[in-house]
Amino acid sequence: MMIVGIWAEDERGLIGVKGRLPWSLPAELHHFKQTTMGQIILMGRKTFDGMNQRTLPGRTTVILTHDQTYQVADKSVLVFHSPKDILAWYHEKELETAKDLYIIGGAEIFKVFSQYLDRLYRTIVQGEFEGDTYFPDVIDYDQFIETSTKTSLADEANQYAFTVKIYEKKK
Ligand SMILES: NC(=O)c1ccc[n+]([C@@H]2O[C@H](COP(=O)([O-])OP(=O)(O)OC[C@H]3O[C@@H](n4cnc5c(N)ncnc54)[C@H](OP(=O)(O)O)[C@@H]3O)[C@@H](O)[C@H]2O)c1
Repeated sequence: MMIVGIWAEDERGLIGVKGRLPWSLPAELHHFKQTTMGQIILMGRKTFDGMNQRTLPGRTTVILTHDQTYQVADKSVLVFHSPKDILAWYHEKELETAKDLYIIGGAEIFKVFSQYLDRLYRTIVQGEFEGDTYFPDVIDYDQFIETSTKTSLADEANQYAFTVKIYEKKK
């Protein structure tokens, strides 16, 4: 059981535009789905609202917000108000559930949890897009070893090539 970061950035580190992703890449979403399936996913309130509060099937959704009155129609969604409470909840549950905790963004949430990440799934989308949200400069890649890199070429359904890199935290 571990805490994992997963995200997609463009060649300049862009990750978002107006609450959403800057690109449409079904193959990258498929990678995200396969990697996170069956696990716990944690996201910030802005990312969840940007998805119109749609939950992703087969995963436990956890949201972080300061808003004590924040309501989600889907009652399976867990809402927390501090990172400390999420970590305490996860560490209490991890042995029992044997699930990993995937930090899925956005920028604010990556910033808060960067120090706890044991593994990274970093996608680099080949292109430069318009947007407003960048991956924060919080990862010291010297503390990680790149264990895998795999490029998917553009095709009819995916306009841009992208590379998925996996990093493990050095012990
Ligand atoms: N490319 C990717 O891989 C990827 C992944 C995820 C998201 N994104 C994009 O990133 C953008 C959103 O990122 P963002 O940085 O603006 O927002 P975000 O990280 O999704 O959410 C920020 C919100 O999280 C809550 N929060 C943050 N720190 C907190 C703390 N310490 N305690 C309690 N609540 C806390 C606050 O919610 P309240 O305001 O409700 O208090 C804050 O406004 C969107 O465009 C999204 O599509 C991209």
